[in-house]
Amino acid sequence: MKIGMLTSGGDCQGLNATMRGVAKSLYNQVEDLTIYGFVDGYKGLMDGKYKKMGKGDFSGILTLGGTILGTSRQPFKKMTKEKVSAMKENYKRLGLDCLVILGGNGTHKTANLLREEGLNIVSLPKTIDNDLWGTDVTFGFHSAIDVATDVIDRIHTTATSHGRIFIVEIMGHKAGWLTLCAGIAGGADIIIIPEIPYDIKRIKEEIDKRQKEKKGFSIIAVAEGAVSVEESKMSKKEFKKAREKMTQPSIAFRIADEIMAVSDHEVRVAVPGHIQRGGSPNPYDRILCTRFGTFAAHLIMEKEYGNMVGMKDGQIVAIPLSEVAGKLKSVQKNDQMILSARNIGISFGD
Ligand code: F6P
Repeated sequence: MKIGMLTSGGDCQGLNATMRGVAKSLYNQVEDLTIYGFVDGYKGLMDGKYKKMGKGDFSGILTLGGTILGTSRQPFKKMTKEKVSAMKENYKRLGLDCLVILGGNGTHKTANLLREEGLNIVSLPKTIDNDLWGTDVTFGFHSAIDVATDVIDRIHTTATSHGRIFIVEIMGHKAGWLTLCAGIAGGADIIIIPEIPYDIKRIKEEIDKRQKEKKGFSIIAVAEGAVSVEESKMSKKEFKKAREKMTQPSIAFRIADEIMAVSDHEVRVAVPGHIQRGGSPNPYDRILCTRFGTFAAHLIMEKEYGNMVGMKDGQIVAIPLSEVAGKLKSVQKNDQMILSARNIGISFGD
C-alpha cells in the first residue's frame, strides 16, 4: 500500500499526533506499506517534494507541536489547471492508493477538488477555529481554548489589581467558537464574536453597570473577526473599504479607542496571537487526534475514500468531502453556550 500525507494551512496543536494515529494504525495492519510525506502542504504535492517516511518517523511525536511535514497556506485561491494536473501527476507517478490530507476550510476545498479529479482522498479536520462544517469539533481547538483561557486568567489578576478594562483579542478567523469558549472558561464579562455584531453603546453600558456594582475592572474577550452593528449592514465591498481605512492594528485596539472615546475608563489590550496555536496538544486533543487518525486508517483499509473524519454526537464518523467543502460552521445565536453565558450575566455587546 502506498499512502501520501500532507498538512496544509495554518498549523495547530495535534497535527503530528493525528499523523501518528494514521501511520501507527496502518503499520499495524498492512504488511507492505510506504508513506510519502509531502513537504509544506499542497506545494510539496505540486512540486513533487516529498520524504519517504519510516515507522520511526511517527514515534515520539504525540506531544510535539507544529507539523513534522511543514505546511503552507493552501493555494486554492490561485488554483490553476496546471497546478491541479501537477498534483495529479505526482500522485499517479508515485502510484498512491490514497492521499491523507490534514487541514482546515481552505484545505478542504482543494481536497474536494482533487477528489473530483479522481484522486482517493481521506481528510482530517484541523483548526483552532473549530469552523469546519460537518464535525462537532476539530483538533487543535481544545488546546487553543486552554491557551486563550490561561491568557484571560492571567489578565484577570492584573485587571483586578489596577481596576482596568482589559480587551483580550482571540483568534478564530470569521468564527467565534474560540472566543466564546475561552471567554466562558475565563469568566469574561463581555464576549464579542463575529456572529453577534457589537454596539459600542451596549459595551459601555455594561462596563458602567459593573462600575456601579463596585466592580472596577472588566474583561472583554473579543474575537479577531468581530464586527460592529454598522459594519454588519455593509456590503462586502463597503466593509473592505471601511477596514482599509481603520487606523488601529486590529479590532481589539479599535474597540479600546471606541470605549475611551465615550468614557474615561483606562483600557488595555492583550493579543496572544499565534501563541494560541503553538506548543503541545492538550490531553483532550491527544485522545481526539488518536481517534481521528485511527479512524482515517480504517477508512483507508476499507477503501472508503472521499471522506473527512469528524465527530458527531461523541462518535467518530465519516463525512463526505462534497458536503464539507466551502461551508463554514458558525456559532448560532441560540447556541446553548450563548444562552448559558447570557443566563449568568455575560454580555455579548448587543
Ligand atoms: O485558521 C487558524 C488561524 O490561526 C486563524 O485563527 C487566524 O485568523 C489565522 O489562522 C492566522 O493566519 P496566519 O498564520 O496566516 O497569520
